[in-house]
Amino acid sequence: MLEKVDFRTAQREAFRADVIAGLSAPAKTLPARWLYDDRGSELFERITTLPEYYPTRTETAVLREHAAEIATFCGPRAVLVEYGAGAGLKTEILLGALENPALYVPVDIAGDFLVASASRIERRFPYIEIRPVVADFTEDFDLPADLPRLTPRVAFFPGSTIGNLAPRDAVGLLQQMRRHVGAAGRAVIGFDRKKDVATLVRAYDDAAGVTAAFNLNLLERINRELDGDVDLARFAHEARWNADESAIEMHLVSREEQTVAVDGRAFRFEAGETIHTESSRKYALDDVARLADSSGWRVERTWTDPDGLFAVVGLA
Ligand code: AVI
Repeated sequence: MLEKVDFRTAQREAFRADVIAGLSAPAKTLPARWLYDDRGSELFERITTLPEYYPTRTETAVLREHAAEIATFCGPRAVLVEYGAGAGLKTEILLGALENPALYVPVDIAGDFLVASASRIERRFPYIEIRPVVADFTEDFDLPADLPRLTPRVAFFPGSTIGNLAPRDAVGLLQQMRRHVGAAGRAVIGFDRKKDVATLVRAYDDAAGVTAAFNLNLLERINRELDGDVDLARFAHEARWNADESAIEMHLVSREEQTVAVDGRAFRFEAGETIHTESSRKYALDDVARLADSSGWRVERTWTDPDGLFAVVGLA
């Protein structure tokens, strides 16, 4: 219990520090991880079911369609290490296809969430042993020392969440996965592919306004948790393509010149000035190969959908 309180206090302090630093910067920005409080996670779940948001249903279909081949690629008696434990259905598709999986190791920073998703998997696959690990997978961490060593280890990172990491952090995470699974290990990673800008902008600025609510919730969170006085009506959601970064960016655009208060400090905005809240990088298959090469892997298999929207990549 005390641990939970400590974790919440530490999170609140980290949020405060990031907001003050991000709103003080010449180009205002906030780290995307703060989008996911309870309300933000709920809104993200809704995003995944929107007609315009193709990644979740496309990746799920790719996993379903190629489950047997992906399972063969992973090998029998695999130890499956999942980075972030929220993939639900996608995890179930892979676990259901694997031949005699030895162990499932979900890694997530949110202990409550980890317990909930581990017990869902346990109900569905009572014969698979589960070893949840509480850790922030974007930071260095070690897997438990007593994991089985003689079976192949597979790193699983679906959801195209790799696209939300800055390129050097994506390299760092892939290197960490290599360290975790060893030289003989494998990885199965979901990448959202580059495509026409209109499709991308629609996916991040849907007609029902769910993505707008998801983005604006960050300002509500600032009001709730950091005693802010931000008037949400004075900000607008914007999704824009950044060709240099090959990324869709979410911004909160100030509709007018204004000053907002957060934690007793004042932050000025010009009309049209933005807070950059998230980048979602899109990868050509060549980019994936280069990323793999620079992080100790090579692309062994690529599974994709008939329209070439999404790629599930097998690294060895
Ligand atoms: C979690 N992540 C892969 C999503 C994405 O597509 O980058 C987050 C998201 N942001 C807006 N819509 C979805």
